Amino acid sequence: MTSQHLHARVARANAARGLRARVVAPAGRSIATARRSAIAVSAARAETDDAASAPASASSRRDVVLGGALALASSALAATTPVAIADEAPTTTETTTTTTRDRKSVVVTGSNSGIGLDGAAKLAARGYDVTLACRTLAKAQAAKASIEATAAANGVVLTGSLTPAECDLASLDSIRAFAASRRAAPLDALVLNAGVEFSGDNTVRRTADGFEITVGVNHLGHFLLTNLLLPDLEAAASASPQSDGTTPRVVVTASEVHDPASPGGNVGLGAGLGDLRGLAENGAAFEMLDGSPYDADKAYKDSKLCNVLFARELQRRLRDAGSVVTVNTFGPGLITRTGLFRAQNPLFVKVFDFATNEIFHVAETVDGGGDCLVRMVTDAELEGVGDVYYNNGIAPGEGKTGHKFERGDVSAEAMDGEKGKALWAYSERLVGLSA
Ligand SMILES: NC(=O)c1ccc[n+]([C@@H]2O[C@H](COP(=O)([O-])OP(=O)(O)OC[C@H]3O[C@@H](n4cnc5c(N)ncnc54)[C@H](OP(=O)(O)O)[C@@H]3O)[C@@H](O)[C@H]2O)c1
Repeated sequence: MTSQHLHARVARANAARGLRARVVAPAGRSIATARRSAIAVSAARAETDDAASAPASASSRRDVVLGGALALASSALAATTPVAIADEAPTTTETTTTTTRDRKSVVVTGSNSGIGLDGAAKLAARGYDVTLACRTLAKAQAAKASIEATAAANGVVLTGSLTPAECDLASLDSIRAFAASRRAAPLDALVLNAGVEFSGDNTVRRTADGFEITVGVNHLGHFLLTNLLLPDLEAAASASPQSDGTTPRVVVTASEVHDPASPGGNVGLGAGLGDLRGLAENGAAFEMLDGSPYDADKAYKDSKLCNVLFARELQRRLRDAGSVVTVNTFGPGLITRTGLFRAQNPLFVKVFDFATNEIFHVAETVDGGGDCLVRMVTDAELEGVGDVYYNNGIAPGEGKTGHKFERGDVSAEAMDGEKGKALWAYSERLVGLSA
């Protein structure tokens, strides 16, 4: 976000954004039908169980997270096989799981800061068992302590549990270790929320696996994590708590900047993946997906476009495979008081923060952004509904900060199914899910 963005936002501050049409409304399916057609997870589960019975090696951090009994041998961790949601028709089986669970479970990435932290606290207060999936275990533990202290200070009872875990999205090994540590335990919601942005500094930073870090963390890390946790989501489909019949959800924190025509996305270089030449020509060593010269601000917008393309393609694949898991995206609005702008010039961030919050009132609060995240996970309105995008747009007179969270359109490029498929194929190769 730059000062150009501010001007664009301010120019539009007084114009309420009209209600946007829904993106795609998949045909509704009855829960009974959906249950019958849950995609096969037993093979992947069996592999994971085999892995669990392998002799444990030293892996102290995971031991702390899940207790020694759940720690897996590191060699087995790397071998976890994701559920196949390939183009060809999957083999479907009747699921016979009868597990009874009292509470729903949710994994929230990037839950030690910003809207992830706020949303995680609210979900735990609503009775969800929340896994705080953070860059380091220490950050996740600190997040747990902070949520508990804040809850106690405010007389809030956390009826769900908080489990700190390491999941560094800039390391494929760390993601694989985290996914395997869950041992395919039923997962009701996966919130892909973590994000980085380095606008204003065009130094190319790289993940442990050599990917440009913005796309590497925001898209590729989440891409691998989701694929690895599909068995867990499918397991929840057949074992919903209290038999309430709800279906598992994947929620992706995207942003309106994925859309070059949006107020936040039309300043500076707009999001656009072109023909994915950067990946075609450079593979893992890509700087920009479209092969253009590196621009950190555009890389962030591109990563958010990847979030939407990925979510739409994942939903298509799941639906084709007969899965009831739904995948949706949302933009929480401009929120200057999270950690997202930490890499930017501190003076600029201060001025920007003051102007957007105190003068023009175009910014959302962390609390408001956290509410958006919680709504995507819990709203009954979204039960069984996939492939929609919600945007927290400026709507004077609405909400605490003049924002309205409602269904919106994704960009024309995000609607390009062929591009979604191409991005998926490249992503699969980069993270090692296909040759
Ligand atoms: N703030 C906004 O205006 C805005 C607008 C639209 C969309 N969003 C999206 O909202 C999401 C949350 O951002 P936020 O505004 O709440 O910012 P934030 O406070 O900086 O939160 C981002 C979170 O992502 C985590 N993260 C970064 N790199 C990671 C890695 N390698 N592995 C695991 N976690 C990692 C951060 O952890 P560390 O503390 O370890 O870095 C932090 O917990 C992001 O996806 C962002 O793109 C934000």
